[in-house]
Formats: sequence, structure tokens, C-alpha cells
Amino acid sequence: MSFRRPRGTQDLLPAEAARWRRVTGSMRRCLESYGYGEIRTPVFEETELFVRGVGTGTDIVQKEMYTFPDRKGRNLTLRPEGTAPVARAYLENNLGHEGGVRRFYYLGPMFRYDRPQAGRFREFFQVGAEAIGSALPELDVEVIDAMMNMLRDLGLVGLAVEINSVGHPACRAVYEDALGAALARESASLCPTCIERTRTNPLRVLDCKNQSCQEVAARLPVLREFLCDDCRAHYGAVLAGLESLGVPYTENPRLVRGLDYYTRTAFEVHYPPLGAQSALGGGGRYDGLIEACGGPPTPAVGFSCGIERVLVALDERGAAAVAPAVPVLVLPLGEASRRRALALAGVLRHTAPAAVDLTGRSLKAQLRAADRSGARIAVILGDDELGRGEAILRDLEAGTQTAHPLDAVPEMVRAAMARAAVAGSPPTPPSASGGRP
Ligand code: HAM
Repeated sequence: MSFRRPRGTQDLLPAEAARWRRVTGSMRRCLESYGYGEIRTPVFEETELFVRGVGTGTDIVQKEMYTFPDRKGRNLTLRPEGTAPVARAYLENNLGHEGGVRRFYYLGPMFRYDRPQAGRFREFFQVGAEAIGSALPELDVEVIDAMMNMLRDLGLVGLAVEINSVGHPACRAVYEDALGAALARESASLCPTCIERTRTNPLRVLDCKNQSCQEVAARLPVLREFLCDDCRAHYGAVLAGLESLGVPYTENPRLVRGLDYYTRTAFEVHYPPLGAQSALGGGGRYDGLIEACGGPPTPAVGFSCGIERVLVALDERGAAAVAPAVPVLVLPLGEASRRRALALAGVLRHTAPAAVDLTGRSLKAQLRAADRSGARIAVILGDDELGRGEAILRDLEAGTQTAHPLDAVPEMVRAAMARAAVAGSPPTPPSASGGRP
């Protein structure tokens, strides 16, 4: 008799595990650079946490949970997602007592009895971040910006943010009445589950995967038109904040996401070349979840990202982008300059990860490789420049370059990295080393 791994699960062999560590290490560093601290919650929780948190009418609770009684008959579930467990841990450990915003990130396995296909598994890994304690729209902006930079730091380009507002419970109730009435007229075209949802949770019809339900959904009224003034203002401020950080987005008035806890902002980040499973991650605001878990009203916002999908996106980008980009590259030309380059890189590492190109190839070839690697800055150290006590700083994104005295280079690199961060992509701090939890 031979055993096989359960359907929808994967073995991670050493080469892939090493790549996994590099990718998750880069993700951790990015989130830690925003002030998010790691939280680890159990892999299983009381089933009721997800029923109440994620919502009875959702696909997750209705058909995707791995639920089992333990030997004493307690009803437990392998976590299908990480937000409700973080909300539970926040309350149970009284993490709100100091006030202010608490920022957490997590990385670990989630379990959903989904139909396995490319990019969809029954055991999959998520990295997620949750910021708890403020209703300000700037916190939504921070969370979306952090998610985008976490993905960009890996070398992914062409990411598309889709965003919508699903309002708060009062405006959503008005919408659900309108939706229920519109759906009742369309019942002949709905799947049996959605006919039932028309009565119990009409919003869920909008993310049904059935083709005919999707055609109906395209004709239904959109939630945005039912938003109250406060929700509208919040949404406008989130969009304005994203614009001021240079985070590109597309409004998708039909985006509601598959979990019931969202209020106001809902977003997803897609990598379009992945086709049907192009959502690398998503999230939103969940101002009612902590109260639903038995705590005081506490606003919060967060995201999660599927790590397997990120790895597939990196594969699609090609091997060059797989390793997290080293943001600063020192390009020496000639023996004396190589020795000087090693010393200079040592100083630059106080600011950002820095590597020296030690291939001995031509400057043109070094620059071409630096461009492909996703680095931000190249410090060019030719023997001529060295003779003049200078180096050339090249901004690889803008394609501009300037000469500076050697002892001014660390400060110039620091300033250039800070500018890059303001433009929407922070430097990666050199310290932490990540790993699969
Ligand atoms: P979600 O959209 O259900 O949100 O999942 C987030 C991401 O996890 C998806 O975009 C996808 O990349 C990945 N994912 C989901 N299911 C699978 C699967 N079966 N196989 C592979 N990858 C999958 C949440 O889980 C929320 N907790 C996000 C959040 C955090 N909202 C607020 N804070």
C-alpha cells in the first residue's frame, strides 16, 4: 500500500522551501518596516469564531471549512483565514488596553475545502496584516500601500488594485432590500444556492462563481449608489490618499469580497497574467468584527495575500525576479575599484541591502544586469572616478545619474532611498531574516 498526500495539498521540497524562505523573508521585512509585529495564533479555533466572524451565508462557512469534534466533543475548525483569529487574540490578550493602533502580521497555513486547481489549494499559506484601533481612512491607505510594497519588493510589476466601498451596516441594509427585490425578479436565472441567498444574504449572490448568476449580478444595482454621506466621504479620502502616495487603483463597483465582516473599504490586488486565479490578495475594513467577537466597537483594517499565488506570479515574471531585489548595487570597474567597492558596500548596508557586482564584466553589462535585477540605485565606481575621489549615482528607475565625492555617497544613497519610499516603495531594511513559521 502506498500513501499519497491529501488532495489540494503540496510537499515543499528543499529547493522550493529555500525560495519560500526568501520570499516570505522579504515580506516580513517589508511589513516590519511599517511597524507591524508578528502574531501567531493556533491553526484551529472554535468553529463558532468563524461562523460569527466570517458569516453564516458565506461559501467559506457553508461549504469550505474543515470542522471536526475533538475527543471531548468540542467543535473545532482548521482556520480558513487569519482575520477572525487575530480579532479573537486581540480581545483575549487585552491588546486594546493601551489604546492607539495595534499592528500585526501573520504568516501561516489556512485550510479551505475548495475545488483544487492552478493557484487554488485546500491547504494554502497566507501572509496577512491587520491594523486595529482607528477608523481613519489613512489607515486603509497605509494597509493597501504596505501590501503593494510587499509585492513590489519581490520584483512584481503590473499589479492592479481594485477598490470599492461596501458601506457600513445601515447603508448596506438599504442596499440589501433593493438587491433582494431585484434578485426576486431574476430568480429564474439564479442557481439554487443564490435563490436561497436572495432571502438570507443577497450580497453573496454578487460573488457567486456560477456563470448565469454572474450575468445577473452585472445587471443589479450597485452598492456605491446607496452609501451614506460618511461612507462616501471615507471612500473619497481613501482614494485621495492612494493618489497622494502614487498607488494606482481601479474602482470596481461590483467588488464585495467573499467574507461578511467587511465595512466600507474592500480591495483586491490582482496580477492579471495569472488569469482566473489572478487575485494575489485582498482585504478591507472590518469595523464590526471585534464587536461581533464579544469586544467593544473597534475599527480595523487589513489584508491577506496567498503565498502560492505570489510564487506563481514570480514564476511568470521569470527567474530574475524570484530573489528579492537588492536595492543598491555597487558597480566597480577595475581591481582597485573592486576593493574600494567592498568597503563602500559595507557602509551602504547601514542604509539598505547592498551588493557589489563581482563578475568583472563591462560596465554596460553590469548596468544591464542591474536594471533587470529590480535594484533601485547603482553606484558606479570606475577607476577614473576613483582617481577623482568620486562615484556616480544612477537612479535605475528614473534613468538619471549624478557624480558625488565618495564620502558623500552614503548620504546621497540614503536620500535617494527615502525618495523612493515616498514615491511608493520603501527600502528594505537589512536586518531580519524570514522563514516559514
Ligand atoms: P481572502 O480573499 O479570502 O481574504 O483570501 C486572501 C487571499 O488568499 C486570496 O486573494 C488568495 O490569494 C488566497 N487564497 C484564498 N483561498 C485560496 C486557496 N484555496 N488556495 C490558494 N490561495 C487562496 C481573507 O482571507 C481575509 N482574511 C483578508 C483580510 C485580512 N481582510 C481583512 N484582513
